[in-house]
Amino acid sequence: MTQPSVELQELIAAMEQRRAKVEAGGGEARQRKQREGGKLTARERIAYLLDPGSFLETSTFVQHARNRLMDGVEAPGEGVVTGSGTIGGRQVYVFSQDFTVLGGSLGKRHAAKVTKIMDLAAKTGCPVIGLNDSAGARIQEGVDSLSGYGEIFYRNAIYSGAVPQISAILGPCAGGAVYSPALTDFILMSRGSSYMFITGPEVIKSVTREDVTFDTLGGADVHTRRSGVAHLAYDGDEAVLDGIRHLLTYLPQNAREQPPVRENHDPATRRTERLLELVTPDQRRPYAMHDVIHELVDSGEFLEIQPDWAKNIIVGFAHLDGRPVGIVANNPKVMAGTLNIDASDKAARFIRTCDCYNIPILTLVDVTGFLPGTQQEYGGIIRHGAKMLYAYAEATVPKVTLITRKSYGGAYLAMNSKDMGADVVYAWPTAAVAVMGAEGAANIVYRNEIKASENPAATRAELVAQYKETFDNPYIAAAKGYIDDVIPMEDTRHRLIQTFTMLRGKQEQRPYKKHGNIPL
Ligand code: HXC
Repeated sequence: MTQPSVELQELIAAMEQRRAKVEAGGGEARQRKQREGGKLTARERIAYLLDPGSFLETSTFVQHARNRLMDGVEAPGEGVVTGSGTIGGRQVYVFSQDFTVLGGSLGKRHAAKVTKIMDLAAKTGCPVIGLNDSAGARIQEGVDSLSGYGEIFYRNAIYSGAVPQISAILGPCAGGAVYSPALTDFILMSRGSSYMFITGPEVIKSVTREDVTFDTLGGADVHTRRSGVAHLAYDGDEAVLDGIRHLLTYLPQNAREQPPVRENHDPATRRTERLLELVTPDQRRPYAMHDVIHELVDSGEFLEIQPDWAKNIIVGFAHLDGRPVGIVANNPKVMAGTLNIDASDKAARFIRTCDCYNIPILTLVDVTGFLPGTQQEYGGIIRHGAKMLYAYAEATVPKVTLITRKSYGGAYLAMNSKDMGADVVYAWPTAAVAVMGAEGAANIVYRNEIKASENPAATRAELVAQYKETFDNPYIAAAKGYIDDVIPMEDTRHRLIQTFTMLRGKQEQRPYKKHGNIPL
């Protein structure tokens, strides 16, 4: 082996010394504090997330920009570790903020390290994963730090829908630090050790006199249950990082590629007989839509997105014969599955995410309508519900709808009817498609007959039954071609797989535009 000269050995040693200093981040004491808080360090997170030995670091020796307040300040690695690596053999780009270095605060060069890998990810068509742990804008850098955020936000928006962007929140995310994650496709939070807010408890106290803790203001439970800002919550850093690896198995590398196909051990022709017990014809008996989903998909595996927010609608990913599919389903167990403001936002966002990344959509319908009330009307249910209509119409991926039981009124359209662009619509024999339920309809249509009757209650019951027999079934809609077929429940999995296979080559062109104008 060639021995380097003494001079070269000294240069190599100096390089290694510099690298070691960068790798030590904010030093042992701060790293200990980080671990005591139940968190991994920035580099440990990358090592856990990526396939072993695959990390390729970039911008290692970048230092912070100089100004009067930053002179003499040490910031090894500029508070963020950036680079690329593989997850399950697939190329990804990653940045991991280092809270031990100036609180992971974002200065101009910190931002430049992040935007560099974002640009590389966009050029090479690979997902970007951000591991966020930052006190926000670096106060000492003033407007330069704000500019750094701007450069990241700009790219988050420009690359949105081009390559998947996934954000993990693994510590504080204050001020500007929340808006980059908010512009990405998915936000995953760790319970107890992460939070997101625009203004912190102290500022809130001074302005509104409210007393809140970090956790009750912006912890994982707040954002996955109340605000809908985050998609998934886990206990601890490792679980969040496992969650990212799992989520990626449903997503393609970029918008030009198809999502990955996995080996399937669950027969495509498996008869879904459990559905016969689950969904009875009694419209008043709710059932667990989650059980229906588990019965239909490969090996019963369903990755629910935003499982704890707007629970009246269920969205998430599964596989059908090894191919990813996005599922949107009403949940008859919560608010009778009605659509409200939050459910509309949740579904519309998910539909658009699927469409960005070429994931076919299966819609399971059991819905009586939009939730009535002044709260909903004043809150703008018209505007929010319109997002669902828009998102379904806009989506060009294969779209299959299955009506399991009720499908009434405007919600029939909002849940991807034929007219709204569904490629194929199926119904079970238990389905009922109408403008509204029989009771409400009879009250309006037969009001005069009921009033004039000697026995209004009996007349009413008779007319309701008559209406039900005529309209509360799938056959009128099927006769008019709005439903392509009424199918046996036990054959549903096989039918869905056959149908999505049939639709695989789907191409749909839209008129020229800069971009649509979704009602926001
Ligand atoms: C520079 C910062 C910093 C910041 C913290 N530090 N915040 N340095 N700029 N914004 C430094 C601290 O001096 C400390 O340095 C180290 O980071 C750790 O901070 P601690 O306060 O000791 O940690 P902890 O007790 O865990 O509290 C974390 C925290 C708190 C809750 C995040 O640090 C905090 O409230 N920071 C300010 C948050 C903030 O207001 N950011 C600006 C938002 S405005 P040493 O050397 O002691 O380790 C904003 C505008 C952008 O972001 C808008 C764009 C749209």
